[in-house]
Amino acid sequence: MLKLWLFTDTHLFLRDPMPVQAPRTDQKCMLESAAILDAALAEFLDAPDCDILLLAGDLTCDGHAAEHRGMLERLHRVQAAGKRVLAITATHDCDQAKRGERNETGLPPLEHPESKVFREELPGLYYAFGARDAIARCEADGFSYVAQLAPGYRLLCLNDDGNGRGFCGFDENVMAWILAQIEDARAAGDYIFGMTHHPSLPPSPIYPIISKRDMLGDWEECTRTLANAGLRCLFTGHSHMLNIAPIVTPEGSPYWDINTSALCGYPGAYRVIELEDNLLRVRTQAIRDFAGEKNGLSARAYLQRHFDYLLRSIIESAANDIALLSRHAVGFSVAPEKVLKMKIPITLAGKFANKITAGGLGTLLLCRRKIPKEARPLLVKELFLEFVRNIFAGEESYSRETPVGQAVLAVAKRLEPILRKPLAKIGVTDLPAFMLSLIYDDSPDHWVEIDLEGGIPTCP
Ligand SMILES: [Fe+2]
Ligand SMILES: [Fe+2]
Repeated sequence: MLKLWLFTDTHLFLRDPMPVQAPRTDQKCMLESAAILDAALAEFLDAPDCDILLLAGDLTCDGHAAEHRGMLERLHRVQAAGKRVLAITATHDCDQAKRGERNETGLPPLEHPESKVFREELPGLYYAFGARDAIARCEADGFSYVAQLAPGYRLLCLNDDGNGRGFCGFDENVMAWILAQIEDARAAGDYIFGMTHHPSLPPSPIYPIISKRDMLGDWEECTRTLANAGLRCLFTGHSHMLNIAPIVTPEGSPYWDINTSALCGYPGAYRVIELEDNLLRVRTQAIRDFAGEKNGLSARAYLQRHFDYLLRSIIESAANDIALLSRHAVGFSVAPEKVLKMKIPITLAGKFANKITAGGLGTLLLCRRKIPKEARPLLVKELFLEFVRNIFAGEESYSRETPVGQAVLAVAKRLEPILRKPLAKIGVTDLPAFMLSLIYDDSPDHWVEIDLEGGIPTCP
């Protein structure tokens, strides 16, 4: 049996000197990213029977030279311990703003600690971690490659950083190369699966609505093409959400997108992949602990508190601290003065949002009797924060049978006629079903067993 571990979105944040305080408004833990990565690498090296570490892009926070140096040092140490490392890079690993230009210092980026690495430097920097030992390399993009994991198993390591803005995916030439590699594996009698950065299936139904450009470019067409060509699964990252999405294409090809959350964010998870005969098994583990002051909290509780901070702070500052809310507004391109001018209505709305319970909302919407008794005292604010957190942790567990599920359905039914027009604009025609799809996912996100020869999805 072959065992691989996969980390994604490690977002290693390193500056010299390190700031005392990083933006708390980022859902990922920037200041803690090195300690988290070191803890995860130690767990990998301690595990007695795993041989290969996969890294699915966004290795660094934003491609600073110091961050790449830090990452490369760590990966060389893993290699020196006798393990293989296969890495791809993504949009956070280079300076997207000045593609192809030199920085204003005139110094090569790696010689200037404040500067960022250029995209064209990345294949060279990470050559020892995949491309060097590849059995095929993609000339069309200069990044992608195929690794022979062991006799009988191959991995497509695909770069999808595209133009870094509107399209992150594979152009015609890269797609032709990918299809040729799938065919080549089949001819050799090898199983092949893939790893790229951007999700090829939505990690949550809300994702393509709020963040379409964060999906793999032309994902519907691209995913269908890959599945029909015989690719059974693709490991992805970028969304910072933990999700396993199975589909069967109209042509009858089963396919899974295994999207993994950011290592440096809640819930601090990574994947353990086992290959045995025609089976690919995926399990999920979370870092047990990491160095540094956590105010007495467990690693998971610490990551959760950091994750919740921005949304919680927006809701709470609307009620109690308009100056803080105006500072948050800058992150959403809203001028702080606009927020300060609206102090009275915002404060009133904020006080309401912080106090309202599910039962109170039911009374307001004339559907209190439909809200189960157990759900009535729950604060809407806390439910909302939990729903968001559950999507990121792959723990959407409120089915229509639960009191919370019933409460959400009752509220959605009342709101649907009021919100029909704006919902139609974003393609939501059945609000209750859509809301339920956000809070409940009946296909497990932490575990899957895939038959690489075909077969239908199986669950634990
Ligand atoms: Fe990303
Ligand atoms: Fe990321």
